[in-house]
Amino acid sequence: MSDLKVTPPGEMSPPDPERRRALEWLVQGFGAVIGILVALPLIGPIIAPAMRRRRRRYYSLGSVEQFQTDEPVSTAFELVRYDGWREVRESRKVYVRRLAPGQFIAYSIVCTHLGCSVRWDGETDRFRCPCHGGVYDIEGEVVAGPPPRPLTRLRTFVSNNELIVEEV
Ligand code: FES
Repeated sequence: MSDLKVTPPGEMSPPDPERRRALEWLVQGFGAVIGILVALPLIGPIIAPAMRRRRRRYYSLGSVEQFQTDEPVSTAFELVRYDGWREVRESRKVYVRRLAPGQFIAYSIVCTHLGCSVRWDGETDRFRCPCHGGVYDIEGEVVAGPPPRPLTRLRTFVSNNELIVEEV
């Protein structure tokens, strides 16, 4: 005699717990994969900048011959940055002083108070901010007004007789 159990028509067999657990894992795994696929495009742009290594960018300010004095000289360059897939070009200005042959200082023109552009006033030997009266000396140190910090100095070096500045 065999042990084969026959289920009468209309009656369901009891659920197999092993099979049920396997199906639950399969459904949960499938749900997790769908969740990740949906979430990636949403969180990708948020976490991508943090994961990206900041690349240093250098820009030529032109021949060093144009910077002959200790007096700050305003000079412009075109900064290139990437906003997603878009290439954005911005005109930037810096002030450059020549301290000695081959030795230069470049200052950001951005006032450290609220970001207005400072101008060099050669008559008083001061950088002046037109917005709230911030005043900096020739070294970029604050001498009057609300700016909390000196003007930002930018790293420079000479290459092939051109003055190179690191991205602001
Ligand atoms: Fe320059 Fe306020 S932005 S002093």
